Amino acid sequence: MNMMNEAAIEKAVDQKMNTVPYKMIGKDVSVYYGEKRALFDVNLNIRENTVTALIGPSGCGKSTFLRTLNRMNDTIDNCRVTGKITLDADDIYDPNIDVVELRARVGMVFQKPNPFPKSIYENVSYGPRIHGLARTRAEFDEIVASSLQKAGLWNEVKDRLHEPGTGLSGGQQQRLCIARAVAVSPEVILMDEPCSALDPIATAKVEELIHELRTNYTIVIVTHSMQQAARVSQRTAMFHLGNLVEENDTDKMFTNPDDQRTQDYIMGRFG
Ligand SMILES: Nc1ncnc2c1ncn2[C@@H]1O[C@H](COP(=O)(O)OP(=O)(O)O)[C@@H](O)[C@H]1O
Ligand SMILES: [Mg+2]
Repeated sequence: MNMMNEAAIEKAVDQKMNTVPYKMIGKDVSVYYGEKRALFDVNLNIRENTVTALIGPSGCGKSTFLRTLNRMNDTIDNCRVTGKITLDADDIYDPNIDVVELRARVGMVFQKPNPFPKSIYENVSYGPRIHGLARTRAEFDEIVASSLQKAGLWNEVKDRLHEPGTGLSGGQQQRLCIARAVAVSPEVILMDEPCSALDPIATAKVEELIHELRTNYTIVIVTHSMQQAARVSQRTAMFHLGNLVEENDTDKMFTNPDDQRTQDYIMGRFG
């Protein structure tokens, strides 16, 4: 298939965006850090097998919203979340939800690559081990290999699986963290500025990978780069001062946004 056809098909798929089912639904989501309110009644739904980019000026609440999607906010003292968030049919703030299992279904990749101080192999096999996804050596080998392949890292590390993950380059470490997230078969992958510590070549590799992962996973990515949002996402949500300003098809967002604040932000008038 030539590039033109591929682009045309992608466009057609994007135009059907409005019919893509929701994987996660956020209703009236507010977040408080002690007395300080960081999010104001955010209503934002995340479409399945779609890359959704969260953009907006520093401090507008992008990371705060992202963390509500797998209850990472639970780990922050003083942090309180109100409203409702569902993953398929499950209310993820239901007291009966097993948070460890939730975070396997909704994985996370952070700004700074954070491999464990262990071998490449152990970095990837750790999650499957604690979740009981493999038993025999052969099963672990298989998960490690397929996860590294999905993260586009296999060819670079297959001969050094037992060397420390921390010995890899920054870009490789970030792909190792993606392999680690993928290893527990998540449904959703959250990424908080995953390229901000990477050089342009490593960034391009991770962006290409995000593009490929979309086939099998639902992805939400926080980025301070509007160019990156335009390159990797099909939907974009713009935050400002803790409010969701607008959520739209990425193409529309960057050419003809509905809200003046989005217009001002993408024109570089603030942030
Ligand atoms: N752990 C925290 N404790 C207190 N306030 C926080 C914490 N994390 C974020 N905030 C505040 O919440 C607001 C939103 O922050 P954040 O979600 O990190 O924004 P962004 O990711 O868009 O830069 C900011 O005012 C920030 O100072
Ligand atoms: Mg942030």
